[in-house]
Parts: sequence; structure tokens; C-alpha cells
Amino acid sequence: MRIGILTSGGDCPGINATIRGVCKTAINHYGIEVVGIHSGFQGLLTKEVELFTDKSLSGLLNLGGTVLGTSREKPFKKSNMTSDENKPALIAQNIKELGIECLVCIGGNGTQKTAAKLSAMDINVVSVPKTIDNDIWGTDFSFGFDSAVSIATDAIDRLHSTASSHKRVMVIEVMGHKAGWIALYSGMAGGGDVILIPEIPYDIHNIGDTILNRLRKGKPYSIVVVAEGIETDGRKHAAEFIAQEIEQETGIETRETVLGYIQRGGSPTPFDRNLSTRMGGHATELIAKQQFGRMVTLEGSEISSVPLSEVAGKLKLVTEDNDLVIQGRRMGICFG
Ligand code: F6P
Repeated sequence: MRIGILTSGGDCPGINATIRGVCKTAINHYGIEVVGIHSGFQGLLTKEVELFTDKSLSGLLNLGGTVLGTSREKPFKKSNMTSDENKPALIAQNIKELGIECLVCIGGNGTQKTAAKLSAMDINVVSVPKTIDNDIWGTDFSFGFDSAVSIATDAIDRLHSTASSHKRVMVIEVMGHKAGWIALYSGMAGGGDVILIPEIPYDIHNIGDTILNRLRKGKPYSIVVVAEGIETDGRKHAAEFIAQEIEQETGIETRETVLGYIQRGGSPTPFDRNLSTRMGGHATELIAKQQFGRMVTLEGSEISSVPLSEVAGKLKLVTEDNDLVIQGRRMGICFG
């Protein structure tokens, strides 16, 4: 048997560990051949591929990014095609010509959508959820999230000392356009005083009161963690907007930091390495059992899978009844 593997969408720590998990299980355990497809779905249009060997899989476990490269190519998007182009048909033809009997797609929400559409065309597909945002429906956690939270928490830890020395408010912006998982987890782990996420509306007066109450209690500095996707006046960085509003509201000197792509780069945490290894191995197991059209998941502590048709088009957002939100509120953390 021969399978193909691609990585699509934004990169994140743990992709290479997942590739290694899929391929080593395929080659060493099941005797399945693996073709690596370069630059996501783009490589399926141009047939840019390489054959993986056990040797070419060395050194991948702790390596950041993706050795296969990635792109945001969306082959089903009509606006990405000229009138005489049919990308889905070309992909189906190329998969056949390359002798690929199942395609492994490692990616975020967009990738899961494309994978579901390919599966609906009767192409054998198995996918693995990948995003630092942790917003893929159907899995409790996606790999990359723990690494991003760990980097963001370290940054928040470092802001504490400079905030307290200068008696300032420090606003830090972390990633998350629609879902505030990184802000919630790093904000709680880093001891943030205010945590703002796209899912929970905020009132700047509440935020000001929280900061001024801390001042009254002899705590002249505060840490504010914001997700990039919160409501602003339209400017590029939420942190800049919130910092200005806080300074106006409280009169306390306020500074902002935008963490940016540092959150997505570098080596995965041990948790993410093991999650990637387990998810990658499970993807190959699904293929060996001919269980196609599924996305690998983590449910509690168990690796499992769900039909791709159930995942496509859904987002996993933070809800008010999340235990970290409830516990944070009990301890006086302001969520807006
Ligand atoms: O999907 C992950 C993510 O990191 C988002 O949180 C972020 O907004 C986005 O990717 C930005 O990615 P890019 O600039 O590569 O499109």
C-alpha cells in the first residue's frame, strides 16, 4: 500500500513529530510506503512529492515548523480558480497517478474542511488536527496548543517583574482570532489579572475598576492578557487599543506587547511531542483498518477519531461554563 501525507495552513510545533508518527508506524509497523507532498494542497496540484524512508525521518521529533512546507491553498474555493480550472478534479487525478491509496491531511479548520470535501469525492482521507489556537471541533486538544501556551506563559511571567518595578499595567496580546484558548490558558497559568477573549464581551469600566481596586489593595501593577480577536476600534493590534483605553480609564501608565509568531515557532513541548506521536500513529492505524473519512481526536486521555463530515465548518470556542473561566472569576480575575 502507498499513502500520501501533507501539511496545510499555519505551521505549529509538533507537525514534524506527527509526520514522524504517521510515517514510522506506516513504514516500520505496517510496511506501507509513504509519499510526502510538499506545500500542502499546492503540492497535490503540481505533484511536488518525495518518498519518505526511515532514514529521512530522523531528527524530526523536536523540530519546529514542517519539513514538508505548507501553504494556504484552498482547492475548493471558486475564487481561487479560473473558469477553465477544476482543482478538485486535478487533485483526484494526481492522487491516482501517484498511486496514493489514502491521503493524510495534517491541518487546522480550513484543512479539515478540504479533507471532508475530498472524502465526499470518494477519495480515501484521514486527517490530524493541528493548530496552536485549539479551536478544532471534536478534539479536546490539538497539538501545538500546549507549546504556544508554554511560550505565552513564559512571556507573561517575564512581564510581571518589569510591570511591578515600574508600577505599570502591561497588556500582552496572544494569538486567537475567534477562539480565546491561548489567552485563557496562558492568562491563567501566568497569573493575569484581566483576561480578554473574543467569546466574552468586555466593558472597559469593569477592567478599569479591577485595576484600580488592585491599586487600592497595595498592588500598583496589573497584567492584562488579550486575544488578538477581541473587539477593537478596528486597529490592527488589540493590545494597542486596550492599553490606550486602560490608561485613559485609570490614569496608570500602560504598555503593550504583541507576542506574534514567536508563539508558533520552535520546538514542541514534551506533551505536544507525545500527543503528535500518538495522533500520527493512530492516523496510520485507521488507514490500516481501512477506516477512512475520519479525523483523529483526543477525548479525555484517549486517542480516538470522529467522522470528518461532523467536524467540517464547526469551531470549538471557549464557553462561560469552562472550569478555568469559572475558577478565574471566583478568584477575582476580570474576564471583561
Ligand atoms: O491559525 C493559527 C494562527 O496562528 C492564528 O491564531 C493567527 O491569527 C493566524 O494563524 C495567522 O497566521 P498567518 O499570518 O500565517 O496567516
